[in-house]
Amino acid sequence: MNLLFRYVAAVTVGVLLVVPGSSLAVDLILTPEHGGGSAWELSECAACHPINFIHRKVPDIRDIVQRKGYESCSGCHGDNGTGEQRQCRICHNSDDLPTSPHLDGFNRHAFIGIEGDQECVTCHQASDMDGVFELNRDLTQFAAPVGHTQRYFNTSEFCLRCHNRDHQIPGFEIEGKDFRDPLIAMEDNYNRVDFHGRRPGHTGRTYSGLRADYRYPDVVECTDCHDMHATDNPALLIDRQQKGASRLFENRSGGDRSIEIFEGEFAQLCVICHRMEANIEEAMLDTGNGLSGVHQSSGDCLACHRHGLGAQSGL
Ligand code: HEC
Ligand code: HEC
Ligand code: HEC
Ligand code: HEC
Ligand code: HEC
Ligand code: HEC
Ligand code: HEC
Ligand code: HEC
Repeated sequence: MNLLFRYVAAVTVGVLLVVPGSSLAVDLILTPEHGGGSAWELSECAACHPINFIHRKVPDIRDIVQRKGYESCSGCHGDNGTGEQRQCRICHNSDDLPTSPHLDGFNRHAFIGIEGDQECVTCHQASDMDGVFELNRDLTQFAAPVGHTQRYFNTSEFCLRCHNRDHQIPGFEIEGKDFRDPLIAMEDNYNRVDFHGRRPGHTGRTYSGLRADYRYPDVVECTDCHDMHATDNPALLIDRQQKGASRLFENRSGGDRSIEIFEGEFAQLCVICHRMEANIEEAMLDTGNGLSGVHQSSGDCLACHRHGLGAQSGL
């Protein structure tokens, strides 16, 4: 009883610490306090937690955990101090959870020297897996530069904790790149130069060259164009609409379009969100995925549209 009380107390404290405005986010990772300390570093979960008796209050995960068995425990509760590899793909695969996340496609955001499901854990250290994506629970909290708030206000901030020139995360340094390479220049690009970022003077107006069902914000998230989990396109650009473009209403009703990109031919990507007001140049021409509305519907766009190009065009 005493131990059970401790657990309830711990959960209550967790709830009290939650930042107002976010939904309840529980940290499921076991600590050295597990079972009053005596259960820490033990790997035989079955010895003390018969699978039929757990998760009565969380019916959404009860079934899948019963099907996957004890191998899956580490996915949500951590390694319990054993150093065992945590399991993610045992559930997050194309059969069991095919859209969470979308896993069709050959390229993914890998990290050199990190293997297997440790890759997922790098970005999602302590997800609560309640079916709702919460920035400050479901994404790993990488350190912000001194003097900045640690919390994320959007997913792009998460990316920029690493993709910058002067405050990279130890262990994830990006070395030997040209000063202008987006891998390290993105923080400055996004905050100063890019149309899709926070370019000064670009906020506080409404740009109207977008598809009718686009819910307008003036900033576009990195993950609206880039997919971390699986895509056949280069530079991790989304290969279909459902993998990004989160501001399209159409996405919610299952609408989808394929996006094929070769070298610098980005027309099928841009046309997912953009639609020119005037029918000039190639605005009437199908880009190849059934949509039209960009001034150039095929060919190389890179000369005028890439990250960090400040003058008249850019990204
Ligand atoms: C020697 C017995 C024992 C073993 C082995 C054990 N636990 Fe526990 N565990 C406990 C006790 C005791 C509690 C506290 C009472 C309760 O909630 O059942 C607990 C609590 C928990 C909790 C609730 C959160 C917390 O920190 O109190 C989780 C989750 C949990 N165990 C998961 C696991 C997993 C996963 C494994 C295998 C890696 C495991 N346990 C192995 C005894 C054990
Ligand atoms: C998909 C995520 C997930 C997996 C995998 C998972 N759990 Fe849990 N577990 C949870 C959640 C969510 C709770 C409820 C936490 C709360 O209410 O604060 C929980 C609670 C618990 C608890 C304490 C309360 C209870 O419901 O009994 C124990 C013990 C536990 N889990 C053991 C296990 C063991 C053993 C495994 C492997 C067989 C496992 N869990 C696998 C998500 C998971
Ligand atoms: C480079 C960082 C990164 C890696 C590696 C990564 N993710 Fe993600 N994941 C994200 C981000 C960022 C989001 C939020 C996506 C968004 O806003 O569109 C996300 C979202 C998710 C979601 C919510 C559903 C969705 O698609 O939005 C799930 C589930 C998920 N990731 C699981 C995984 C699993 C499983 C792995 C390993 C196979 C993994 N992630 C690897 C960054 C990553
Ligand atoms: C026992 C199965 C199981 C395992 C193992 C598992 N997950 Fe999940 N996960 C789920 C389920 C179920 C959901 C909710 C999916 C939904 O409703 O969209 C989920 C959701 C998520 C989400 C989306 C955010 C949220 O709160 O719903 C992320 C991120 C995620 N899992 C990452 C991981 C990572 C990383 C691992 C490995 C460390 C992992 N999962 C292991 C079953 C599992
Ligand atoms: C923990 C640090 C870290 C985080 C967080 C992170 N990245 Fe990366 N990213 C890297 C590293 C390291 C590389 C590999 C660079 C190299 O080639 O040396 C990389 C590579 C990339 C690449 C090039 C991949 C390729 O195959 O061409 C893209 C695009 C990218 N990241 C976008 C993102 C986006 C978007 C996010 C946020 C959703 C993100 N990254 C979050 C560290 C990170
Ligand atoms: C020779 C340079 C050049 C090339 C090549 C080019 N563009 Fe542009 N593009 C521009 C300029 C200039 C603008 C206007 C930017 C502004 O609004 O300030 C523009 C604007 C856009 C816009 C925003 C819509 C608008 O009405 O402002 C989209 C979308 C776009 N281009 C797509 C493409 C695509 C797709 C390609 C390749 C198939 C491409 N562009 C090739 C110069 C170019
Ligand atoms: C996920 C949706 C989305 C995608 C995909 C997208 N854009 Fe945009 N784009 C926007 C939004 C939203 C704005 C308005 C930003 C603002 O108001 O500051 C914008 C603005 C622009 C502008 C500035 C237009 C002006 O006149 O101010 C250019 C240029 C542009 N995009 C080019 C491109 C190109 C080139 C591509 C393809 C590589 C592309 N965009 C893909 C959503 C998108
Ligand atoms: C409107 C769509 C769009 C948005 C938003 C966007 N990107 Fe990109 N990104 C692209 C395109 C198109 C390319 C390829 C052209 C280039 O290299 O500039 C690219 C290239 C990159 C590359 C170089 C990849 C490589 O393999 O060399 C990185 C790194 C990158 N983006 C990171 C980011 C990060 C981080 C964010 C958010 C802060 C972001 N991008 C936002 C469209 C986008």
